[in-house]
Amino acid sequence: MIRDAVAADVETVEELEGELFGTESWDADTLLDDLEREGRRFVVFEDDFEVVGYAITMLAGDLTDLARIGVHPSRQREGIAAALLDHVIDAAREDGADRMLLEVSAVNPEALAFYAATGFEHIDTRTRYYKDGSDALVMRRSLTSSSDGSS
Ligand SMILES: CC(C)(COP(=O)(O)OP(=O)(O)OC[C@H]1O[C@@H](n2cnc3c(N)ncnc32)[C@H](O)[C@@H]1OP(=O)(O)O)[C@@H](O)C(=O)NCCC(=O)NCCS
Repeated sequence: MIRDAVAADVETVEELEGELFGTESWDADTLLDDLEREGRRFVVFEDDFEVVGYAITMLAGDLTDLARIGVHPSRQREGIAAALLDHVIDAAREDGADRMLLEVSAVNPEALAFYAATGFEHIDTRTRYYKDGSDALVMRRSLTSSSDGSS
């Protein structure tokens, strides 16, 4: 089940952040801020009363930024991130967004494979963007076509 996050989810998501993003992880204060700020959407995937995945987007006019998406390591490759992505894309379309942008580390093959599989294209590179010195690939998906993002 995908639902809006609430303050009680922040502790679990903070733990997932540490596990999934290491030195780039967001702390509880940042996550709590995302619950409250205008234009942010913070959703969790709950299974058997346990939060196993989450996504955070930021709406800015007609574009939405996928700021975070993560799935517990023991639950990856079950389609959970794809379901979360579909959910936030539907919501962003309703909010008037016509494209989604994101940044992903050039040395994160799992995420690169996920974005390739879900219709994102590489449009730019931010050199040495992350703390570990890796580049960020800027990726884009049109939201104006069908769910394969092929327009
Ligand atoms: C990237 C991530 C969110 C994917 O989550 P997931 O729930 O495992 O993804 P899904 O099961 O929905 O995958 C959908 C498709 O994406 C592709 N994909 C996802 N993970 C993949 C991997 N590790 N290797 C190859 N392809 C992958 C596949 O095509 C997959 O479909 P398939 O399983 O039917 O082959 C997850 O690996 C993760 O949490 N990584 C750490 C956090 C992170 O890097 N987030 C993105 C930062 S920008």
